[in-house]
Amino acid sequence: MPAPLATDLAEGRSHLAIYDDENKLKLGTFATNVSYGLSISEAPTTYEVSWEHTRKLARQSDAMGLDMVVPVSRWRGFGGATNFNGESFDTYTWAAGLAQVTERIMVFATSHVPVIHPIVAAKQAATVDHISNGRFGLNLVMGWFTPELEMFGSSQREHDERYRVGDEWLHIVKRLWTEEDPFSVDGAFYSVKDAQSWPKPIQRPHPVIMNAGASPAGSDFSARHADVSFIAVKDPATAAERIQRFKSDAFDKYHRNPLVFSGAYVVCADTEEEAHDQLRSVVDGGDREAARNLMQVLGIQSGSFDEILAQATEDAFITGWGTPVFLGTPEQITDRLIGLENAGISGVTLGFHDYERGLEHFGESVLPLLRQAGLRA
Ligand SMILES: Cc1cc2nc3c(=O)[nH]c(=O)nc-3n(C[C@H](O)[C@H](O)[C@H](O)COP(=O)(O)O)c2cc1C
Repeated sequence: MPAPLATDLAEGRSHLAIYDDENKLKLGTFATNVSYGLSISEAPTTYEVSWEHTRKLARQSDAMGLDMVVPVSRWRGFGGATNFNGESFDTYTWAAGLAQVTERIMVFATSHVPVIHPIVAAKQAATVDHISNGRFGLNLVMGWFTPELEMFGSSQREHDERYRVGDEWLHIVKRLWTEEDPFSVDGAFYSVKDAQSWPKPIQRPHPVIMNAGASPAGSDFSARHADVSFIAVKDPATAAERIQRFKSDAFDKYHRNPLVFSGAYVVCADTEEEAHDQLRSVVDGGDREAARNLMQVLGIQSGSFDEILAQATEDAFITGWGTPVFLGTPEQITDRLIGLENAGISGVTLGFHDYERGLEHFGESVLPLLRQAGLRA
C-alpha cells in the first residue's frame, strides 16, 4: 500500500498556519535564536540574543500574521571578532517558551539528530506540541559542523550515513508519537527496549517534520519524510524545473507531496539607494575571519555546499551566508516573492540584519503588496 500523501496527513493539522489556504505564500522568520542571526557582521542593529528580544520578535511575527518561526541548532560559534552564532538558545526550550506567548504562528525546534536521543526528542516535541496546542514543528538537521559534534565526544559520520541515522531516528520518534504499545528496536544505530512515550502529540498523525537536505541523500530523506522541504533557489531561471523535479521525485518514489519552502535575506527600503546603503553597511561591518571560517567548514564538511561555495564571495557569506539576498524597494521584494511562488515555492523563511525594524518595514510595505497580488489574505 502506498504511503499516505502529506496532503492527507494535513487532516489532523488543518488548524496549522502552514496549511492555511488563505495565504498562498507562507512566511516566517529564520535564525532569531542565534547571535548575529544570518549576518556575519558588526553593523549596527537592535538584534540581540536575549529572551526579551527573541520573544518580542516572535510576538511581532505572530501579530503580523506570519506563519512560522524557525530556529538554528548551533552548539558553538565560528570564531572571529563576533564568534558568529556563538550564543544560541536551545531550540526545544526556546520553542516551548515562545509557544506560551504566541497564538497562531507555528513554533519550530531544530534538532540535531546525532546528539539528541530519539526518546528524548519525541517527548520534548510532544510536550511543546501540547504547550502550543498543536502548533509545533520539528526541523531535522544531521550535523555538518564537526567541531560541534566533537564537543559531545562523537566523531563525524560519512555524509550519507548521517541520513541513514536520521531514518532510524525518525522511525523511532514517529512510532513513539503514534503507537499505543511499547516496542523494541534493535537497529544499526539505535537500540531501544520497550520504548514508549505519553502523552501523544496533539497533531495527528504527528507534528510537522521539516528538512533542508540538499545533497542527493539529503534531498531523498526530505522527499521521504518531510512535510516541509527546503530548496535553495539560487537561480530563478532554473528554480521551477528543480522544484518540480523534487516534487515529482517525492511523489513518484514515495507517493508524498511535501510543501517546498525557500529562504531569503531581505534588505528592503523605500528606495533602491537606501537598500544598497543598508547592504553596504552590513558588508562594511563584516567579520571576515568568521566568514572565512564558516566557508572553510562548509567546504570540507558538508556534501552539498560545493556549488554555492564555488560562486560565493566572502561578501555573500556576510550577508545571509549563502541565502539569496532580496534587495530593493517593497515592489522589488514583492516581485521576487511572486517569482518564487510562480516557481512552485509555498513558503519563505525571512532573515533580516535587524529583525525588529526589518519585520516592521516588511509588514507596512511588503505585506500589503502581497495581499494585492493575492498571495496573502
Ligand atoms: C532553512 C535551513 C535551516 C537549516 N538549519 C540548520 C541548523 O539549524 N543547523 C545545522 O547544522 N544545519 C542547518 N541547515 C543545513 C541543512 O540541514 C543541510 O545540512 C544543508 O542544507 C546541506 O545539505 P546536506 O546535509 O544534504 O548536505 C539548514 C539549512 C536550511 C536551508
